[in-house]
Amino acid sequence: MKKILTGIKPTWNGMHIWNYLGAFKPFLELAEGKEAYIFIADYHSLTSVHEAETLKKNKLRLLKEYFALLPHDTKITVFEQSKVNRINDITWILSSVTPLSLMLRWHSFKDSKNKNSDINMAVFNYPLLMTSDIISYDIDIVPIWKDQIQHMEFARDIAWNFNNTYGELFKLPDYHVDKNLQTIPWTDGRKMSKSYDNFIWIFDDEKTLKKKIMSIVTWSETLEEPKDPKKCNVFALIKLFASSEKQKEIAKKYKAGNYGYGHAKLELLEIILEYFKEARARYYSFENDMSYIEKKLSEWNKIANKLADEKYEKMMKMVGL
Ligand code: TRP
Repeated sequence: MKKILTGIKPTWNGMHIWNYLGAFKPFLELAEGKEAYIFIADYHSLTSVHEAETLKKNKLRLLKEYFALLPHDTKITVFEQSKVNRINDITWILSSVTPLSLMLRWHSFKDSKNKNSDINMAVFNYPLLMTSDIISYDIDIVPIWKDQIQHMEFARDIAWNFNNTYGELFKLPDYHVDKNLQTIPWTDGRKMSKSYDNFIWIFDDEKTLKKKIMSIVTWSETLEEPKDPKKCNVFALIKLFASSEKQKEIAKKYKAGNYGYGHAKLELLEIILEYFKEARARYYSFENDMSYIEKKLSEWNKIANKLADEKYEKMMKMVGL
């Protein structure tokens, strides 16, 4: 069975609809019929988060979100990068077959070097650790955004370098870029982005969710006028979450007139609440009790450790240690 993996850094502000549709849901779809892994790239967060409490808080939130969105009987293995004992040992050995010239070609590194004059070494080594994250577990495919293509090429190069130096050990991972979901309109019709503050968090309380949805930018026809659903930001979102019958029904109301954008917004709120009903209930249950998550993580961290341990032992033999 093919193996698929993705990693998420706990540096962000939470799971919003864009993350869900652009990353989480496509991952679940690609994971069908494969052996799937999702890990929390908490070591990677250390490149930018240097406050222990913030890191802890972000990681906890991310775990609750992921466990809330995954079905209870999920076959996906969720684990913590920093609990994989050999991950940095593997990274060290890989670094010894990685030419500096390859590292210097890494464009994000060059970007961040231009932005801040003194970056930390973890930023420099970021793609090496990301390589270990993938090749330690013999992953076949990694779904990514366009911005991660170079990292994936890098991972393939490094795996190849090791194999070329010591003999076949690592699988060269493929990647899959999802082009469909790069642009999802949000409250003001622009691309969703934290800097525009135009996204919503799936696990917001109902009041906040409602406020965000009511603030979606719309045209200014009168209530009576017929409206074109195709031109409407609210309808664009309805389309992402409603059944096709429901979409047709709402489109009809738009065109008939006497249906205001306020009505459409309230329908959208209901649709989103319904769509995420179970996940939201699960999320809130984790607020009071983390025992399920802790139990699963300790089980699943062992699976990742077993794979990485095996890889590490083989590597050590091959390098002569
Ligand atoms: N670099 C990824 C990001 O910025 C996170 C990540 C770390 C990752 N290791 C990975 C993703 C391995 C996929 C596979 O989002």
